[in-house]
Amino acid sequence: MATKETKVWEINPQENLIEDPSIQEAAHYLQLGKTVAFPTETVYGLGADATNQEAVSHIFKAKGRPSDNPLIVHIGSRDVLKKYVRHIPTKAEQLIDAFWPGPLTIIMPSNETLAENVTAGLDTIGMRMPDHSHALALLKACERPIAAPSANRSGKPSPTTAEHVYHDLNGRIDGLVDGGRTGVGVESTVIDCSHCTPIILRPGGVTRQDLESVIGPVDVAPSVVKKDESPRSPGMKYQHYAPDTPIWIVQGGAGRMRQLAQEATNNGQKVQFLVSQERADELKAKDALILGSRYNLAELTSQLYDALRQVDKKDVDLVLAEGFPKKGIGEALMNRLERAASDYK
Ligand code: TXA
Ligand code: MG
Repeated sequence: MATKETKVWEINPQENLIEDPSIQEAAHYLQLGKTVAFPTETVYGLGADATNQEAVSHIFKAKGRPSDNPLIVHIGSRDVLKKYVRHIPTKAEQLIDAFWPGPLTIIMPSNETLAENVTAGLDTIGMRMPDHSHALALLKACERPIAAPSANRSGKPSPTTAEHVYHDLNGRIDGLVDGGRTGVGVESTVIDCSHCTPIILRPGGVTRQDLESVIGPVDVAPSVVKKDESPRSPGMKYQHYAPDTPIWIVQGGAGRMRQLAQEATNNGQKVQFLVSQERADELKAKDALILGSRYNLAELTSQLYDALRQVDKKDVDLVLAEGFPKKGIGEALMNRLERAASDYK
């Protein structure tokens, strides 16, 4: 792929971001059909004008993404939603009232006005209004719906810093809005509201409990629960990020981890721990990759992708990762960790 110059805008938070010359320039890039990466509250997205088929095709090329995997469309205000969907199901409306802007993508029946390659030929479309000042300013300034998958090369963890995006996509995209570290740290919850009972296709920042408190019982796609079932969300069928180094999730306590580490060391393997601060203290492990406090699942989640990127840089043979409770945001955390891991011990 021809190398392009990737323009980086560093943006300082301020009152009226829409007027910021860098946001204006980035918005202009999008209007011209260029690709621009930008921060959201979940992870960085790689954006292009969702009404422009050619622009959207550049996203797939830059990422090396299979073209049958549909993209999420981002909007800067909920008022424009009705332009792109056939109708807004009642439960979708209730979820929008409760969680937008926020880390929730809602699949609805598409009215097929957006570029065909956005939805990969499906008759539904995933819509989301992100809760991030830079993203909202950019979306409002460009006055277009923006298709944006996570701004990583396919097969890498989603980026939670501008440095991650630069590492993966420098020379392959036109622009990058640097807004520092993202908050949630894993991708949005995806819920399909195009059928009778809404179904969670991907767990994320809005938890199952949050959703059920607003619309009552929801289903969870089998592929979220079991890795090998065939998925309804095309993206779930692709091998998610898994480092070359095998990762084992260890459910037992520090004793079990110490024992597994000892066995591996006896076999001449170099072991890396990926654990909470508390577990690192129990193990007296100085070189552990630490996600945060065991008692703060949101903090652990926000650090996961950065830690997985670091695993790749280390010269180790085996990663022993601590398992966490699948409660609240812990469901999203463990979903991503399981997708990166090869085994439970
Ligand atoms: O937090 C996020 O959602 C980030 C930020 C940038 O907004 N975006 C993101 O996009 O994670 P992406 O493309 O990496 O993941 C989109 C997921 C994929 O698993 C895709 O298959 C699914 O959403 N998806 C999109 N449209 C769909 C549809 N119409 N039906 C079913 N699944 C859909
Ligand atoms: Mg992705």
